[in-house]
This record gives sequence, C-alpha cells and structure tokens, in this order.
Amino acid sequence: MLIQNCVLVDPSVNSSVETKQDVRIDNGMIVDIGTAIPTHDSETVFDADGLLLMPGLIDLHTHLRDFGQGAKEDIATGTQAAAAGGYTTVVAMANTVPPIDNAMVYQHLQQMIADKAVIRVLSVANVTKGMAGKEVTEMAMLSELGAVAFSDDGLPVTNLAVMRRALEQARALGTLVISHPEDRDLSGAGVMNESATSTALGLAGVTTASEAVCVAREIEIARITGAHLHFAHISTIASIRLIERAKADGLSITADTTPHHLTLTDSDVGDFNTSFKMNPPLRSQADQDALTLALKNGTLDAIATDHAPHTHAEKGAGFNAAPCGVTGLETALPLCLERLSGKGSQTQMSRVEVLRKFTSGPAKILGLPEPSLAHGRSADVFLFDPAEKWTYSPRNGHSKSHNSPFNGRTLTGRVLLTLCQGRIAYQHEPAMGRWISIEGLALK
Ligand code: DOR
Repeated sequence: MLIQNCVLVDPSVNSSVETKQDVRIDNGMIVDIGTAIPTHDSETVFDADGLLLMPGLIDLHTHLRDFGQGAKEDIATGTQAAAAGGYTTVVAMANTVPPIDNAMVYQHLQQMIADKAVIRVLSVANVTKGMAGKEVTEMAMLSELGAVAFSDDGLPVTNLAVMRRALEQARALGTLVISHPEDRDLSGAGVMNESATSTALGLAGVTTASEAVCVAREIEIARITGAHLHFAHISTIASIRLIERAKADGLSITADTTPHHLTLTDSDVGDFNTSFKMNPPLRSQADQDALTLALKNGTLDAIATDHAPHTHAEKGAGFNAAPCGVTGLETALPLCLERLSGKGSQTQMSRVEVLRKFTSGPAKILGLPEPSLAHGRSADVFLFDPAEKWTYSPRNGHSKSHNSPFNGRTLTGRVLLTLCQGRIAYQHEPAMGRWISIEGLALK
C-alpha cells in the first residue's frame, strides 16, 4: 500500500520540522519513504493530502476487562476503541475477574488476546495473589511468560514489606512495578476531591494527601531496592514535587497522568454525573496546571488513559455507590493536543512533544523500541486529520461502555485510519473515499 502526501510527525526524530512524504507499506513494514514515489501495479493507494502520519500510540494503562466482566468491555471492543483513538499497543491492567495472578490465568488471557485483539496487547500481571496485598505472585514465571509489568492497580500494595519484596524481584527480573498510589484510610468514604465543590455538593472528599503520602512511602522503598517503580495516574501538585525530587536523586522512578486529569477539574462534578467519578478524582485547577508543566519539564513521562469501562446500570447507581472509572481511548489524543499545544495553553508544547508522551515516553518506561516512522520499522501507524472538528458521542464509539465525561464535547483532530503491523485495525467511514484501489486489503 502507498500512502501519498502525508505529513510525517515522527517522535523519534529530534526536530519539529514536519515534511510531506509518500510512505510505502509492504508485508507489515515501512519499506519506502520519499517524495512522489512511483506507484506499483496493483498497489493500493491512499490519498492522505492534509493528513498527518504518526506512529501508533501506546497506552500504558487500559482496563480491557473481559473474563467475568465482559458486559463492561471485552478484548475485541476495547482494542477496537483503542485503534479508533490511534493506539496500536495497549497495556492491559490486571484487576480483572479473576485477576492475572497465576500462570494459568495469564496463559488463558494470552489465548483470548490472540483470538480477539485487533492491535497489540501487552499484559500486566498482579503484584500479589488475589490482589490481597499479602503474598507476592510468581513474578519470575509470569515475567518469563511475557508479563511486561506488575501491578495491583485499582488498589495500592499497602504492606510495604510486601512492596519491598516485589520491587526486589522486579529489579532482579529487569521489570517494573506500576503503583496505584493511594492511602485507602485517608480516602475513606470519599467519592470526589476534597474541596469547596465537595462541600457544596454534600459529597465526602478525598484529600490530595491520600495520593502524595503513598508516593512518598513507595519512593523510599524504590530507593532501598533500586528497582523501577512507575506511578500511575498522578493527579496532585504534592506528588509531582516528590517525583521531581526522587528523579533528581537518580532513582528509577517514572510517572504518568491521564487526559481527564489534564482537561477537567473537580468543579466539573456539578450535577452528580457519575461519568466524572474516577480514582484518583478530578482535582483543582492548580493541580491541573502543575500536571501540564510537569509533562513539559519531564517530571511526568507519559499520558495514559486509565480507560475504565463500567456498565450503564453500574454507573446509574448514584454518585456515592457508582464504581470509579471513565472511558478514554477514543478521545485522548485530540483532548491532549488541544490542552497542551493548542492556542491559549500556557505550557505550549509542540505537537511532536505531546505525541512523545503517547509514544516514546511509554516505550521507554516499558523498555520497548521507540516508536518511529523509519524505513524498516513495523507499520504501526495512524493517519490523523488535525483540522476536523467533530462532536464525540460514546454511543457512536467502539467501547461497550459509555461512561465518558467527554460526551457531547467538540474535539479538533480525528483519527481516520489505524494500521497495526500493516493491517487495518480501524478506518473511519468517510476515509474510505480516499482509497484509490482497495483490492487486496485485509480487514481484520
Ligand atoms: O477510576 C478507576 N477505575 N481507577 C482505578 O484505579 C481502577 C479503575 C477500574 O478498574 O475501574
């Protein structure tokens, strides 16, 4: 296939010069890049004039559910939603039912991924058996089977002696632990950020200290073990300060934040809409501004969705009873481009700098090759129309669940085509008109 006249945005190239090129994909690989490449007979040609070509995004934190929670999401629908958002790799979290805490479940999961996924899925295994926080899983075996990281996300590992053992193992195995930083005693019965809004709404609040005290404790365990500890969904100024200092101390600490923490605040929880309930909760404008600066200065390494689907019935249980979590795969990139590099954003990152938080950043955390558009690389790429304005509706999306806080939001920029290893994983209908010949295309 030949993609003609696209502007390449390559995060692996140290320049923000964006050039218009043709790109040939054959056998799942990028085999030719240049201007006015002559077409081959029987080649499929895509007219990408006005579109950007970028390497597929990597989501460090996706809840794909399936198993006993197939009503919320399954591996097919979750990966379809990811492909529609420009992702070609997602890292599946391990708080499934049953959890990914032993080799048998892990292998069963791999079979389901092979059968159902439309993009690459990497699996996290649990830190502790049954996510009970007491006994460390067979990390060596799970790592040998391919687990890319270990996490009890959804819950913190509260017992620091257990966390220490897990981090010692992680260091020996050359892997990492992904922390869900939260002090559950401090969170108590809180359902949103502790703030003037929680008081006004009469809802119990979660103090920012709930996250930061856990970050502080676990940094000290990372210090004595020398292991790589990654903090998921960072939401507060206090956590950012701690992570900044730990990095300055030379510790192997990395961290991400989410598109919703970058674009919404606790004052958006105005009408008890449970699509604005997640853990950690939406914080203040000052926290949000600090997150954007921390991305720009490198304290935060990546943006990860924490895509957490829940059914309509579960989310309809009222603000106090509804489970935490929001979907996010289909909206992440346009939201973050607008927030971080759009007009009026005080951080003013370039487009490629923002893209790196979705590609180079997560790849480095996981020890994967840096995504790039170079000749000879796997064709994990997507085409993005930076000018299209559209209104997001989860009902028209691919996830089984509709618990998005961005329902009805006008977005600028849209994914039109996603290829994973050269195969079409997602195609937006109107993009079909850009194919000059469609013979020989395998739609998975
Ligand atoms: O909001 C959240 N939902 N935060 C988590 O840590 C877990 C996730 C889920 O699994 O639903």
